Amino acid sequence: MISYVIRAHDVKIDTKKFNCGHLALNDYIRRYAAQDVKRDLTRVFVATPEDDINHLAGFFTLSAGSVKCSDLPESVARKLPRYPIPVALIGRLAVDQVFQGKGLGSILLAEACLKVKQASASLAVVGIVVDAKDDSAAAFYRHFGFIALPGKSDRLLLPNAAYF
Ligand SMILES: CC(C)(COP(=O)(O)OP(=O)(O)OC[C@H]1O[C@@H](n2cnc3c(N)ncnc32)[C@H](O)[C@@H]1OP(=O)(O)O)[C@@H](O)C(=O)NCCC(=O)NCCS
Repeated sequence: MISYVIRAHDVKIDTKKFNCGHLALNDYIRRYAAQDVKRDLTRVFVATPEDDINHLAGFFTLSAGSVKCSDLPESVARKLPRYPIPVALIGRLAVDQVFQGKGLGSILLAEACLKVKQASASLAVVGIVVDAKDDSAAAFYRHFGFIALPGKSDRLLLPNAAYF
């Protein structure tokens, strides 16, 4: 079994060979992630094998977001006021094809949830929202308890109660 190190994105990471099978996500980590971090638009966390710490195996991004109360499932919305609701946003999460199917996706998702839980002591959110890039990605998130927002099969929510 491979052991991984997860850390904040830095310029030493070799992103050129990263291929998760999704062009937009490959392009993002290669060309845009570093500048988004610099502009405080997102935080990017990278996973590398413990014995090859500049080899990018996977990554995820975290930023602050909000959703309209009326966009939430009724079971969540009925406990909340009718103004925009703060959430954490996993904008992107991807695993290189060489490392897929070996548990890294679930490690990255668990790490993202842990980071949100820690941050929520200082910055309140009602849950984590993800934008799934396609049906297969949405199925991955549903597997871990995310629920699709009504009428938006590609935007899913994991309410705090599901993982806090
Ligand atoms: C989706 C992705 C992140 C999964 O990563 P991975 O490392 O292959 O996933 P894991 O090996 O950790 O799988 C964890 C669990 O999720 C399940 N799973 C993985 N991909 C799944 C999918 N597409 N649909 C449903 N379940 C899925 C696995 O069966 C496994 O289940 P188990 O815990 O019961 O054994 C990866 O395939 C990927 O990067 N795909 C391309 C980019 C993408 O779609 N990103 C997400 C949207 S931004």
